[in-house]
Amino acid sequence: MTAAVNALFQPFQLGSLQLPSRVVMAPMTRSFSPNGVPTADVVEYYRRRAASGVGLIVTEGTTVNHPAANGYAHVPRFYGEDALAGWKKVVDAVHAAGGKIVPQLWHVGNVRRQGTEPQPEVPAYGPMEKRKDDQVVVHGMTRHDIQDVIAAFAQAARDAKAIGMDGVEIHGAHGYLIDQFFWEGSNQRTDEYGGSLANRSRFAVELVAAVRAAVGPDYPIIFRFSQWKQQDYTARLVTTPEQLGAFLAPLSAAGVDIFHCSTRRFWEPEFEGSELNLAGWTRQLTSKPTITVGSVGLDGEFLQFMVKTDKVAQPANIEGLLERLNRQEFDLVAVGRALICDPDWALKVREGRMQEILPFSREALKTLA
Ligand SMILES: Cc1cc2nc3c(=O)[nH]c(=O)nc-3n(C[C@H](O)[C@H](O)[C@H](O)COP(=O)(O)O)c2cc1C
Repeated sequence: MTAAVNALFQPFQLGSLQLPSRVVMAPMTRSFSPNGVPTADVVEYYRRRAASGVGLIVTEGTTVNHPAANGYAHVPRFYGEDALAGWKKVVDAVHAAGGKIVPQLWHVGNVRRQGTEPQPEVPAYGPMEKRKDDQVVVHGMTRHDIQDVIAAFAQAARDAKAIGMDGVEIHGAHGYLIDQFFWEGSNQRTDEYGGSLANRSRFAVELVAAVRAAVGPDYPIIFRFSQWKQQDYTARLVTTPEQLGAFLAPLSAAGVDIFHCSTRRFWEPEFEGSELNLAGWTRQLTSKPTITVGSVGLDGEFLQFMVKTDKVAQPANIEGLLERLNRQEFDLVAVGRALICDPDWALKVREGRMQEILPFSREALKTLA
């Protein structure tokens, strides 16, 4: 192991959370859980990544117990005895392999299409009502609905703790429900949940506080956020470090332990005049540990692959990443597609077998290997 690569394989500790390495598996929807229940293949999929040196697995988005939380077929639930029993098997297998794991708790908000499982008749829920041909296609959430969703996240966190998960990640990114509240493009509410950025953050802040109350003081809460939205790749919540600091402070105070700063290319500076990326700024502004992500180990960014390209992303060197990690710009490094196509990515990096790392193409999404 070279000195530079060594940085990725240092342990990390935050309170009760002890990670064997700095490599995090990014949350990635795989849609291999029929009826919302993780199968034996899902257990093996995560176990393999833990066994080859991933320090922390963030599971694919898994839905909280609210009728409109899900947006896609075969996505695992995080409620109900059958699904939680499936997840418990995943937890036990990952632990036996020496890894740690947290579920990514998810509500898709207004992108849900009517007809989606598990309750096809339920419309999407979002910050704003939307109608099409006189039909409500997105139900504008009342204060009561907001409290229901918050309670569902809190219950999911309680269940995560009960089945031995090592913490939880709250999905506040990419234009799903929580991010729909953050973003003025999708939130024009006139009550206390809309208007200023502080008001648009109120839903998330209350949600984090409820999760914290549900799990107690020492249980890790990771919060994932992004500037970009799947509805608009160029969208931004904040344009200056001062605004970013103001955005993060109440979330941090409400109980977030680690911020997961989702970008498409980790090397891009977030603001002019500094090389720091979003995770770098977030660490500096909050003094909390951060996770960086975005095209680690690959030469093409991931949204290309969401638009069904036949292009193949080739392995890329990670020297720039290691330099930043060594400078402590961020604490942890999430790896997405590289870990889908190559379960042994972490092991190969650790052993300097870079030339053996497999390329990524969308073919890799067809199976759960
Ligand atoms: C197939 C696929 C599914 C994804 N699903 C999720 C998800 O459920 N939740 C989430 O926060 N991000 C999701 N993402 C984004 C990844 O977590 C990650 O941020 C992104 O792929 C960039 O990392 P990479 O360049 O290393 O792949 C997904 C990405 C891919 C490729």
